[in-house]
Amino acid sequence: MPGSPSAPLSLGRGQILTGDALALLPTLEAQSCQLIIADPPYFQVLLDESWDNTWASADDYLAWTLEWVRACQRLLRSDGLLYIFGQLGKREHVWLHVCSLLAREMQFHDLLIWDRAVGYNERSDSFTPQYEMILALRPEADTPPYFNKDAVRLPYDEATIATYLRDKRYKDREARELHLRKGKYATNILRIPSLKGHSKEKLGHPSQKPAALIERLIASSSRPGDTVLDPFLGSGTTAAVAERLGRPWLGIESNPAYVAIARRRLEAIAAAPERELA
Ligand SMILES: C[S@@+](CC[C@H](N)C(=O)[O-])C[C@H]1O[C@@H](n2cnc3c(N)ncnc32)[C@H](O)[C@@H]1O
Repeated sequence: MPGSPSAPLSLGRGQILTGDALALLPTLEAQSCQLIIADPPYFQVLLDESWDNTWASADDYLAWTLEWVRACQRLLRSDGLLYIFGQLGKREHVWLHVCSLLAREMQFHDLLIWDRAVGYNERSDSFTPQYEMILALRPEADTPPYFNKDAVRLPYDEATIATYLRDKRYKDREARELHLRKGKYATNILRIPSLKGHSKEKLGHPSQKPAALIERLIASSSRPGDTVLDPFLGSGTTAAVAERLGRPWLGIESNPAYVAIARRRLEAIAAAPERELA
């Protein structure tokens, strides 16, 4: 892995550690994180990125995955959640083995679909891929994780509200409208457009995730004041969203060029905290 541990960079409510997650995770305090959002290298999906191609075989990648997941498990509070991004690559099915392996290591909690809204045209031999998965794991079988469904309700549009209000079965129209205005519960299919090259939000990282997607995870699975960790910080999306939502955060990233991007992003938030998430 590139990069070696160096002095932490403190920004706003959080810190970025530059270095290898495997070396740095064991130095952090046990049970100090409510939520861990991990978007690790996928393994041979981004063929032009050296960080996605450092393992000689799928088995090596699986062994590495197990090591950092165990290190993360030690850091989670008993009612915390670990979200792991994964993708079925062009040829590889390693992600399925990752899910199976990790569901035996920790408690399987959920498997979310990130519907990217637009396909990425990489296959001529099957349907055009349009989703990624997010595996949700929790540390303990008997302890339910903290999860706030109300924090991620989705608004109904006006036409739908009007249709529901015409339903004669509801006698108290006012109460019904109040209820509808709260919006509906989000499903585990998160439909959020992926970032296009020309997107205002795009900062030069090849697998930068949309802030709106990370916001759903942080808003539902942590309270203000809870610590959020991202062991593969990239361009700093988790840090940026956590900062805006009032969560202390910690990010680890091995590539100093990406650390510089994340740093600029966090500095921009500090300079204009009211501006929309990016
Ligand atoms: C999929 S990207 C994360 C993108 C991020 N979610 C974002 O929105 O920008 C994975 C990141 O992990 C970093 N990385 C790879 N191996 C690492 C390691 N051993 N320790 C820490 N970071 C690592 C890569 O440099 C890359 O930026």
